[in-house]
Amino acid sequence: MEIKNVMVVGSGQMGSGIAQVCAQAGFTVYLHDVSDEALDKGVNTIEGNLSRQVEKGRMTGEEMRAVLGRIRRTGDLADAKHCDLVIEAARENMQVKTSIFKTLAEAAPDHAILATNTSSLPITEIAAATKRPEKVIGMHFMNPVPVMKLVEIIRGLATAEETFAAVKEVAVRLGKTPVEVNDFPGFISNRILMPMINEAVYALYEGVAEKEAIDAIMKLGMNHPMGPLELADFIGLDTCLSIMETLHEGLGDDKYRPCPLLRKYVKAGWLGRKTGRGFYQYH
Ligand code: CAA
Repeated sequence: MEIKNVMVVGSGQMGSGIAQVCAQAGFTVYLHDVSDEALDKGVNTIEGNLSRQVEKGRMTGEEMRAVLGRIRRTGDLADAKHCDLVIEAARENMQVKTSIFKTLAEAAPDHAILATNTSSLPITEIAAATKRPEKVIGMHFMNPVPVMKLVEIIRGLATAEETFAAVKEVAVRLGKTPVEVNDFPGFISNRILMPMINEAVYALYEGVAEKEAIDAIMKLGMNHPMGPLELADFIGLDTCLSIMETLHEGLGDDKYRPCPLLRKYVKAGWLGRKTGRGFYQYH
């Protein structure tokens, strides 16, 4: 199956990054969000990223205009009717996602694949909200999307082999490395990453070390590009908490219990970089 047109639902941090790499790979992209403000923000982020590439001499101004010209803004999910693949990157909320998938399954052509960028919600449950569960799959990109090489591809219980093969090919066309996993809470990426972050928060909570020390140890000692607390601020503490809750509930083991300090920060509205304050302060 040839994929030419891609819809990206959600123009936030992940959605705009996904739209950017799709447009750079030559796909026509329908970038969807519910408000003009959200679309403006997403397109501005893409323009900023591409301008940096032009400044660094990695792309010409003409190429940048061609990439931007392949992105069509839309506020209407019915535009999925033009698309062969939809990648949903909306809020991490099951009700929001199932409602979007129901609409998409009605609007998109029969051959279209419906992928979700969810970081931990069950693909099988999202697929069950549609009449085409064999066409539903997880395509989990990492932040920042233009930089990170991985796309974690998650098969739901009913995902068809041809859906998997088509999505894998798209990931390669985007310059990414697809890695296949099955549908269990947190998949592989967050099942391993989030307990590490949560443990770092426990270490801080218990006074084992200062936050700077915890981050320095993991950066210098394990060669991680960011320490776990710095990374938690980058991802968003609300996102970290919600993924830990999914692991705790879905796997049922107390080793996934979110640290009370993480809950406290989220309750305070200290969500990390996006709110200017998390474990660290940002100006
Ligand atoms: N968008 C696009 N490009 C970006 C970017 C962004 N938001 N942030 C950085 N870059 C680019 C820079 O332009 C730069 O490009 P060049 O090398 O081509 O010039 C390159 O990335 C490196 O950037 P910097 O020199 O500014 O900074 P750095 O070397 O410290 O790297 C980083 C920044 C890539 C974010 C690095 O710190 C890193 O890899 N951090 C870990 C990120 C990570 O773990 N992500 C996964 C999070 S988990 C997730 O996403 C899944 C989930 O479900 C929660």
